[in-house]
Amino acid sequence: MKLTKQLKKVNVGLVGKDGRTTAIRRKLEASDRVESVQHLVTGKLGSTEKEREDAKNEFRAALKNSSPDFVVIGPEEPLDAGFVDIAQREFGIPSVGPTSVLAKLESSKAYARQLLERRGIPGNPKFKVFTKLDGIKQYLEGLGHFVVKPDGLTGGKGVKVSDVHLFSIKEATEYCQEQMETGKRSVVIEEKLEGEEFSLQSFSDGEHVRHMPVVQDHKRIGVGDTGPNTGGMGSYSCKGGNLPFLSSADIEIARSINEAVIRVLKEETGEFYRGVLYGGFIATSDGVKLIEYNVRFGDPESLNVLSLLKSDFLAICEGIIAGTLDSVAIDFADRSTVCKYVVPDGYPDNPVKDAPVDLSQMPEESEQLKIFRAALDQRGGKTYLSGSRAIAFVGVADELDEAEKIAEQAATSVIGPVYHRRDIGSRELVESRVAHMRQLRSSRGIRSALIPH
Ligand code: AMP
Ligand code: GLY
Repeated sequence: MKLTKQLKKVNVGLVGKDGRTTAIRRKLEASDRVESVQHLVTGKLGSTEKEREDAKNEFRAALKNSSPDFVVIGPEEPLDAGFVDIAQREFGIPSVGPTSVLAKLESSKAYARQLLERRGIPGNPKFKVFTKLDGIKQYLEGLGHFVVKPDGLTGGKGVKVSDVHLFSIKEATEYCQEQMETGKRSVVIEEKLEGEEFSLQSFSDGEHVRHMPVVQDHKRIGVGDTGPNTGGMGSYSCKGGNLPFLSSADIEIARSINEAVIRVLKEETGEFYRGVLYGGFIATSDGVKLIEYNVRFGDPESLNVLSLLKSDFLAICEGIIAGTLDSVAIDFADRSTVCKYVVPDGYPDNPVKDAPVDLSQMPEESEQLKIFRAALDQRGGKTYLSGSRAIAFVGVADELDEAEKIAEQAATSVIGPVYHRRDIGSRELVESRVAHMRQLRSSRGIRSALIPH
């Protein structure tokens, strides 16, 4: 295994092609000791066995060609497909990112739920895993309000929530049937939780866990959280490292769940979780619950936290690889951030592709404005939309209002068939979240006063 010695200049290999990978690249390039950051492959796997093998071979060829000192993997697909295992076992190259056994935490929602249950880690809603249709109807009826999750990677778009995407038991059963028959997947059915979601991303070397500021993402396409789910339309974080609807006890609980999961994963698999663990949590009237686990940085959440990170990201990567994360300086600027993604019209279901966009009116990057290119192609001096989230703008300021204005102004400057959510980070939206949480917590107060213990 190649060791990255202190003070040696290092070459880093990067897997991914999205805003998150751009943010990782820029953080690495900002380090004095990084000689080069080489883009290895996109990490897109394709759907057939042949395409998956080709993608792995392309990765092997890129590793052979560029011999990086270590690899950082942005998205989930290559983690699930074992890119970390390939780099480590076949080339002796370490990675920031978990092995495929550990990546199951994201790629199998059933595995994640069962792990928490088996190990007595709090945070699960009521849930059941189904491999056959038998008993599904009764379980859905018993829950009343439910969520159906295909057990596999679906790019954040396979989860269907009752009263939002599924309007009857019949519709829900049909969706389960389709997933089982066509998609050949089991499904997890769980209780629908009501509350406010937040993301807690933690760096881990498998033994030591270091947390990042919490962020709130916006998954729905439309203003006011309407329409289909997307990969994430934008996100915000607040000065103080908290969100206005969370107590510090809520954050402590989420942190302790992430820490417990890292510990039990080592016990159960014998492998150290080296990378970023992203817990998607929801604060409810009944406390903090887990929505899902991701085994990598969030996109957009990484754009918020990496815009705040003051410490050397290379040193953090080295700490993750060497198992010395406890002794690495990890400091974030105490400021607020708002991230807005500009996406092609029609995203996520029917996005405009290959249409030109004009970025000439875009403001310059500064301490207050970070710009992350994502699904954009450059051809003949022109910029084209390639069909997914195109470009992200992160406003950074002391106050959330100010950060929102900076991101909004930049997002509006993109000319073309594009769309962004104007409401992300706005005072109105954040206040509505605070009011929602207050109402949930007070109705809990009323309930517990009425119901004798
Ligand atoms: P996931 O892909 O698991 O993150 O789910 C996508 C979105 O579905 C989440 O961000 C939530 O908004 C929603 N969701 C997932 N699980 C639940 C649940 N148990 N209760 C309510 N909403 C959920
Ligand atoms: N922000 C959602 C995700 O990264 O999966």
